[in-house]
Amino acid sequence: MPKLWGGRFAKNASKLMEEFNDSLPFDKRLWKEELLASDAYSVALGKAGIFSRTELARVRRAFKEIDKEFSQGKFRFKPADEDIHTAIERRLVEKVGETGKRIHTGRSRNEQVATDERLYLKNVNQEIMLLIRELQKSVVDLAANTSDDIIPSYTHMQQAQLVRLGHYFMSLFFMLETDHSRLDDLSKRVDILPLGSGAVAGSTLRLDRDVLKRELGFAELSANSIAAVSDRDFMNEFLFAAAQTLIHLSRFAEDLIVWSSTEFSFVELDDMYSTGSSMMPQKKNPDSLELVRGKVSRTIANLTALLTLQKGLPLTYSKDLQEDKEPLFDSVDTLFSTLRVFTGVISTLKINRKNLLRNTDDSIYATDIADYLVEQGVPFRDAHGIVGRLVLTGIKQGRRLRDFGTDELKEISPIFNEGYYTIFEPVRSVERHDNYGGTSRKGLKKQIELAGKILSR
Ligand code: ARG
Repeated sequence: MPKLWGGRFAKNASKLMEEFNDSLPFDKRLWKEELLASDAYSVALGKAGIFSRTELARVRRAFKEIDKEFSQGKFRFKPADEDIHTAIERRLVEKVGETGKRIHTGRSRNEQVATDERLYLKNVNQEIMLLIRELQKSVVDLAANTSDDIIPSYTHMQQAQLVRLGHYFMSLFFMLETDHSRLDDLSKRVDILPLGSGAVAGSTLRLDRDVLKRELGFAELSANSIAAVSDRDFMNEFLFAAAQTLIHLSRFAEDLIVWSSTEFSFVELDDMYSTGSSMMPQKKNPDSLELVRGKVSRTIANLTALLTLQKGLPLTYSKDLQEDKEPLFDSVDTLFSTLRVFTGVISTLKINRKNLLRNTDDSIYATDIADYLVEQGVPFRDAHGIVGRLVLTGIKQGRRLRDFGTDELKEISPIFNEGYYTIFEPVRSVERHDNYGGTSRKGLKKQIELAGKILSR
């Protein structure tokens, strides 16, 4: 099969080289974007006098028909189609004959790839932002339903201080909010149109790039043709945002996996998001969350692949850049499925209320006791030391802190008084963290209100 660029060649490429060179198997996914961009380009060519009115109408009608062929699964690729760009140009020529051969006037696949990719990412980005919003909604619902439940929080995976369970879940909401705003922010930098840059130098035609911009709905035109065909920063940014979003989910997945163990039993995953063991009949495994935790690896790998692809790559386009698409698509697909599954897990999660404080003892109030001493005028560092000795005595004697008599307490520090015995109350402990961002009822209510505002804009 002759190639579109075959003129300068005396011999065909080897079969091996053809397979090595073709990007069609993965870039056919960009057919819609390629058709949109080609259609817009035909309009600009019409304005530049390359197509007459009737020719342009025929070309645009052909693009509509090709669109239908793709939508209905009827488009047939041919062995000489290297990529989606050549396939669609070939089909256009089949449909409109000689006129079709003028579609590539002043155009290069270098700018087509970058254009299609930006078009694709513009849409995908919006869809992913919506999925994040869906997940955030489930998270706020769960937080609102668990705002009166209290759990031990952990630092270093050791029991730290009591917090409202809803406060814990709202941390996921706000981490996702960062992810959402990152995607929103980078969408500005995706929204720049390279078309009209040619292969590298720009266009010699009287090509009205504003027409292209309008037809394709871009916010801006690329200001430099060399940068336009070389740059993949918008993809790097997206791949980072994808990996970062999944890193967030993966950390929560890890907590929920631990929390669903028999030892914790804080939560139980719905059967719909668990699987069993082929051998051990009693098992109900949190595979959904393990996969969430696992999937992040490939998105980190995809980001790394794109960064290394560009490191040291000369300007402008080199074929290396053809390798940019598979990592991008993989991260997009992974993000879609992972966000959906995680939303399912969150919206069906069962909380085992009676277990939440089952394994905490009075030492979880150690910081509250130190705060109490501070209120009596003891400098914090001294209070820390006093409570440390109290906790150690409790451990040695195997006694609860609340069971120490005032005499015994006064031996450790004369400052202790009856107020000490009011400390060992979960609600009291969380209510004292009453600042903006804290875990008190009011603090959590503010967060949920803020979330409501964010979700309704
Ligand atoms: N299929 C290529 C890609 O995906 C575009 C081809 C550009 N090739 C060229 N010789 N200018 O990047």
